[in-house]
Amino acid sequence: MSDADIVPVKPEIAAHALANRARYEEMYLRASSEPEAFWGEECKRLTWMKQPTKIKNTTFFGDVSIKWFEDGTLNAAANCLDRHLAERGDQVAIIWEGDDPNDSKKVTYRELHEQVCRLANVLTAQGVKKGDVVTVYLPMVVEAAVALLACARIGAVHSVVFGGFSPDSLASRVQDCGSVALITADEGRRGGRKVALKVNADEALKTCPSVKSVVVVKITGGDVAMQPGRDVWLHEEAAKVPATHEPVEMNAEDPLFILYTSGSTGKPKGVLHTTGGYMVWASFTHQYVFDYHPGEVYWCTADVGWVTGHTYIVYGPLANGATTLMFEGVPNYPSTSRFWEVIDKHKVNIFYTAPTAIRALMRDGEEPVKKTSRKSLRILGSVGEPINPEAWHWYDRVVGEHRCPIVDTWWQTETGGALITPLPGATALKPGSATLPLPGVKPMLVDGEGHELRGATEGNLCIADSWPGQMRTVYGDHARFVQTYFSTFKGLYFTGDGARRDEDGYYWITGRVDDVINVSGHRMGTAEVESALVAHQAVAEAAVVGFPHDIKGQGIYAYVTLVADVEPTDALRKELITWVRKEIGPIAAPDVIQWAPGLPKTRSGKIMRRILRKIAANETESLGDTSTLADPGVVTDLVENRAG
Ligand code: WT7
Repeated sequence: MSDADIVPVKPEIAAHALANRARYEEMYLRASSEPEAFWGEECKRLTWMKQPTKIKNTTFFGDVSIKWFEDGTLNAAANCLDRHLAERGDQVAIIWEGDDPNDSKKVTYRELHEQVCRLANVLTAQGVKKGDVVTVYLPMVVEAAVALLACARIGAVHSVVFGGFSPDSLASRVQDCGSVALITADEGRRGGRKVALKVNADEALKTCPSVKSVVVVKITGGDVAMQPGRDVWLHEEAAKVPATHEPVEMNAEDPLFILYTSGSTGKPKGVLHTTGGYMVWASFTHQYVFDYHPGEVYWCTADVGWVTGHTYIVYGPLANGATTLMFEGVPNYPSTSRFWEVIDKHKVNIFYTAPTAIRALMRDGEEPVKKTSRKSLRILGSVGEPINPEAWHWYDRVVGEHRCPIVDTWWQTETGGALITPLPGATALKPGSATLPLPGVKPMLVDGEGHELRGATEGNLCIADSWPGQMRTVYGDHARFVQTYFSTFKGLYFTGDGARRDEDGYYWITGRVDDVINVSGHRMGTAEVESALVAHQAVAEAAVVGFPHDIKGQGIYAYVTLVADVEPTDALRKELITWVRKEIGPIAAPDVIQWAPGLPKTRSGKIMRRILRKIAANETESLGDTSTLADPGVVTDLVENRAG
């Protein structure tokens, strides 16, 4: 290989790995030359009620139609629970580690099965039926996994809304899919603080008439209002119903869940995943990417509110009969040793986190890591944004002590699971590269006109053919699905990311090429932040861009034009930040607000974001061509009054 910075496959990992290099290549070849045969075999990793005979029926052209295993039937929850009971009923399914380090518990597959059956019966008693949508607004408690699986068990479609989202964000996500029920909690706990979930939910539900029933999990015992006829306590209702439940038979293409994600326009999209293909992909990728061996303890630090939590805390690991750890807290509470202490406490073998967490912990130096053992660790993972080589090397050297391969997994809410990633026993690593595509994944780099770029090159990252875990549609808006992902480049799924491919065929994700920014591994549409800002009475116009941020990867930089006669003060700046937090949630709060008497626009009135990005990044020497600006003086002002 050509690049200097290469970390070869570790022989001791390759010796016991599910896939070495030869096996990976053989699988890749087979999946691309005979997809029907390959996935026809691989789908047997699930327990089907009716085994599929039609494997792949997909097209990226025209109206775009994606069907996998379309004549098969199954139940996702039964695949995560029932089928394991005979062999590993008493094995721990979930290790739950509380926000408080003295608070943890273990739930076996049998116990989890019972909890899921009870909630399935409760939901049914509340009138929830197959095909109904249930919104889940919960913190990281075992009941979050129970909620997902209970919905899946009765054939209801879950839509999880991250517990950090505001009442407004929750309301719009409930309204868009018309959920009939909400599962929430009295309060959440994070970093020693309480999160007022039920209060937020009550606020949101004022504008959500479709929700007929609210099931509330008691976590803190905090005093909350219960609306008679609508709200019930889970523990009370669960005690009244049977501990068994017959899982509902679902078609492979029946919806499993909706998850809202930000795009280039203001309104989040309901990404829809279906049952068969998603479950095959979740199981297949969890097993190979993390080289999961039975008995190992696996920990993904994501929140169940994001797709990473869906696929790699709940569905993938549980489908594979794994022991999955759920962590309620944060990396720096009570101290910055917390991750490593949890690893020692529960003998974690596989650890999967985000670059932003690693960078934040790096600031505290090596001591908080080194005072722990971490000898149980075998594999490390990274997800959410490109990992900078400095963070990669720290993760490798300080956390993994050069023993553990790092799998840098590139994927998206839309892809259902990892697409470009190393396999621990197969892939030599290059720090900062997500490396190679998984079997069944055909990445393609194209130029602005959609022409394929071959060899070592850089371009727009597309995927040329369908894989089982792919999203099927935007909930309730198939035209938007086609428009967003398949219209930029004809016949290709466009990821919205740019990437470079090196001479070894390795992919280096360079980041989003659309108006989406990646803040601490979370996706934020700049348009969403802009519409929150202009909703404030003092704001006439706003333009939001990302800028390089040491910890978050990208920070949020907002240019704000105030309405006439409003004074730009520090107090107003603070007020606007608080406003956005309240409108969307803390993750959307701008890091920097610059007052802008005017925004750089073309003569046709289009904001030139390229220039705003340069100013935000303090690259004012290279603003590029400004000749098409309607008023070049605007730029001079913005450069002179750069904030931050
Ligand atoms: C976007 C998807 C994948 C689940 C969590 C985020 C960026 C994600 C990587 C990675 C470089 C990455 C991309 C992608 N991204 N993982 N390993 N290397 N970039 O899911 O919120 O749907 O965001 O996150 O830009 O498009 P998401």
